[in-house]
Amino acid sequence: MRGLIERLCTSYGPAGREEQVRAAIITEIVKLNESYTVDTLGNLVVHKSAAAGKKILVAAHMDEIGLMVTYIEENGFLRFTNLGGIPPGILWGLRVVFADGLVGVIGQEKIEGTRKPDLKQHYIDIGAADREEAQARVKIGDSAVYFAPVYQAGKRLSAKSLDNRIGCVVLLETLKRLGGLTLPVEVYFAFTVQEEVGLRGARTAAYRLKPDYGLAVDVTRVGDTPEPDFKTGVALGKGPAIKIMDSAVICHPGVTRLMQDVAEKKGIPFQPEVLERGGTDAGAIHLTREGVPSGALSIPCRYIHTPAEMVDLDDVENSIALLTELLKSTDW
Ligand code: CO
Ligand code: ZN
Repeated sequence: MRGLIERLCTSYGPAGREEQVRAAIITEIVKLNESYTVDTLGNLVVHKSAAAGKKILVAAHMDEIGLMVTYIEENGFLRFTNLGGIPPGILWGLRVVFADGLVGVIGQEKIEGTRKPDLKQHYIDIGAADREEAQARVKIGDSAVYFAPVYQAGKRLSAKSLDNRIGCVVLLETLKRLGGLTLPVEVYFAFTVQEEVGLRGARTAAYRLKPDYGLAVDVTRVGDTPEPDFKTGVALGKGPAIKIMDSAVICHPGVTRLMQDVAEKKGIPFQPEVLERGGTDAGAIHLTREGVPSGALSIPCRYIHTPAEMVDLDDVENSIALLTELLKSTDW
């Protein structure tokens, strides 16, 4: 699994440009001898069918946050806008990589007073001497993502884009463990696009697939670091979080209860999650058509949307266990 995490986290895939990460996931799906479809927006779907079970859409987004080039200065520096939420103040000195492997360094203008630096006061330096040289390598509208290696210390693993490649890993591992089993439910595993810019891929995927239930698998914030900026009991290493609410969904109590029941019955640790800021694909899925009862399984994660997001591998393992047991449950 470590190799799979490494392959997915080092893949390039900002919102709207998921083709490289999708190709990496397709390689894994093919290894599992499963078939797949790719829809018009680029969502990748694996269908595991049962004779006459309820239809469950399990969604994990494969896109990551990124930076899109908006303007090329005369002296060759690139101005950019954000694709998804870039935490303020972290950019200076970071390296970013474009689709073709070109790496740039982010620089920052002088900041007056104690103001927090604005995105507009940053630029990407690709080593070009002037606009012409820069234009030979990069076009307006090209996107870059953080350039960062994967590192493991004990049970803790840090990488860029664990949000939400770790969710994709949970889906792929679950798919593998369900193997040739005949499930009591019909499952669509969807690797969605453009979550970071507003849950867009999940919206059209859910419309097309018409599920009876929705379940998003994504990361969530923790409160176990020194003086966290918001209060939550969710911590690394204490098991997957079962979402009750975030800014985009109030999870269906029936789905939440089923998740908790299955976890308890199978002895899988879990934590209740109420996330005051942020959302996942469940936000889009539950509002599809006449409404879809939905829940979310969250992998606790530190430093979300930085180049060094961090998860605990026991949480990842328990998330796979919970999702696997949930899809084997006859209580849907
Ligand atoms: Co995110
Ligand atoms: Zn996410």
